[in-house]
Amino acid sequence: MDLKIPGHIAIIMDGNGRWAQRRGLSRIRGHEAGAESVRRITRECARLGVRQLTLFAFSAENWKRPRMEVSFLMRLYKRYLVQERQEILENNIRFINIGQPHALPAYVQKELEITRERSARNTGMVLCLALNYSGRAEILEAARRFAHDACRGIHRVEDLDEALFARYLAQPEMPDPDLLIRTAGEMRISNFLLWQLSYSEIWVTPVCWPDFRETHLHEGIEAFNQRVRKFGALKA
Ligand code: IPE
Ligand code: IPE
Ligand code: MG
Repeated sequence: MDLKIPGHIAIIMDGNGRWAQRRGLSRIRGHEAGAESVRRITRECARLGVRQLTLFAFSAENWKRPRMEVSFLMRLYKRYLVQERQEILENNIRFINIGQPHALPAYVQKELEITRERSARNTGMVLCLALNYSGRAEILEAARRFAHDACRGIHRVEDLDEALFARYLAQPEMPDPDLLIRTAGEMRISNFLLWQLSYSEIWVTPVCWPDFRETHLHEGIEAFNQRVRKFGALKA
């Protein structure tokens, strides 16, 4: 297999609830099973030489779910962060997170911080967890911060271009995703990385996230290899 490996893969991990409901289980069992997919796909991406993997774990809109489900998810993120820390460190993975952390329970914020700090000097794959993330909120926040700096005379409004604006996003160094994977069949972006996905290749699989395995990831990468990326130009 001589495949081009996407530098940055972003995944909308969807379908945990449907996976569980089809088995007559409660939705939270689906979230629990999804954690195993996170482990396996992270390991496989690192092995393949992916430079960044960004996982959409909780959207700013997901607070609208029943309180029980939200609180189960928060405890699951904590458990995941604690249990996976060693594996992340041993594999030279650098952990980061995007989204508004302040609305998350303090015990999640704490574990995020510990994993982020301990892995900060790692030089391998970047693992980015999007928690309480909204693409529009990220763009708004960037606009707000730019406006502040413009008012203070740090930048001239006329100088604002894409590169300067991108410096105000949550992770200015982050390359745009090459491949966006969405599991469970829905053909939408659901307020994920709105700025960064402008030229990403999108691959949607009907497989629900708890069933998503290495072979499915390979399928997505193979599909990516069939795409002709033109960025508005003509085929090279
Ligand atoms: C994705 O699975 C996980 C989160 C959004 C936290 P869902 O819980 O959205 O699963 P479905 O879409 O209801 O099947
Ligand atoms: C997107 O899935 C968010 C995450 C995977 C965390 P949702 O299930 O929340 O998206 P919608 O509601 O189907 O658009
Ligand atoms: Mg869903």
